[in-house]
Amino acid sequence: MKDERLASQSKIQNPKSKIQNAAPFLKWAGGKQRLLAQYQDYFPPRHTVRRYFEPFIGGAAVFFHYQFPRATLSDKNDKLIEAYRMVQQNVDGVIRALQPHRNDADYFYAVRAQNPADLSPAERAARLIYLNKICYNGLYRENSRGEFNVPFGRYKNPTICHESRLRAAARALQGARLLAADFEETVADAQEGDFVYFDPPYAPLSATSSFTSYSKDGFTVADQKRLAAVVADLTARDCRVMLSNSSAPLVYELYDGRPPYRLIKIQARRNINSKANKRGPVKELLIINY
Ligand SMILES: C[S@@+](CC[C@H](N)C(=O)[O-])C[C@H]1O[C@@H](n2cnc3c(N)ncnc32)[C@H](O)[C@@H]1O
Repeated sequence: MKDERLASQSKIQNPKSKIQNAAPFLKWAGGKQRLLAQYQDYFPPRHTVRRYFEPFIGGAAVFFHYQFPRATLSDKNDKLIEAYRMVQQNVDGVIRALQPHRNDADYFYAVRAQNPADLSPAERAARLIYLNKICYNGLYRENSRGEFNVPFGRYKNPTICHESRLRAAARALQGARLLAADFEETVADAQEGDFVYFDPPYAPLSATSSFTSYSKDGFTVADQKRLAAVVADLTARDCRVMLSNSSAPLVYELYDGRPPYRLIKIQARRNINSKANKRGPVKELLIINY
């Protein structure tokens, strides 16, 4: 049922009649799959995009949906980028390594305790996908030693090895440049005609209600300001930019009332929240410079 819904979401609009459908193979905090329908009017037409940059790739919902040409995809999380590289280069090896994995708490904790350095790159990618599929809420969190530390998720029947989804992702990723990098480095050579989509960890609505820590270090107010400076620089270089963020006062402060930026209100549903009653609709912003 869920897969059918995702498949029909990936048919929203038709930016890509010649492109084969693909969708995220990971659950990721802030995943954009459910917002694609609200975003669709604002994406530039595919044929007008010279090169595509997505520097906070996470689960890659936007990239898999649009499959913009000549893509550079990056994230600061180097383990995540390695998993994408393996799916891109050796999807058979990743699928083979995923097949023995099981939905069992003791088994999960044994895999979680493995030293990734003892595994082959395909096994490491499979381990990341496996832990992501059956850990609590699909979170990615590490302790101070850089070890994945999210507990078992108690799902009834999770799909651990979604072979067709992985193969579709592998096809979509052919030709993409994958970088483990900070966002600023990723877009350093973007030029006129290029389109950049930023989906950073959101600015917290209040100091305590946030989920900003995606890896060892969170994304700070200074990072939000650095991002706004990068958006201004790209705008001056005639790149088209789209940015998702929360509706926090800081976001208005950085982008509102500054032409050519346009702020569009989006209704979202928060997934990653341990308190079920805090998963209701929230207002987010989409900011574009065209
Ligand atoms: C909101 S998530 C992206 C969600 C993604 N668009 C999706 O649909 O799944 C933010 C991502 O930014 C990454 N990140 C955090 N700080 C970063 C930085 N300074 N440079 C690049 N990536 C960063 C995190 O590792 C995380 O994967």
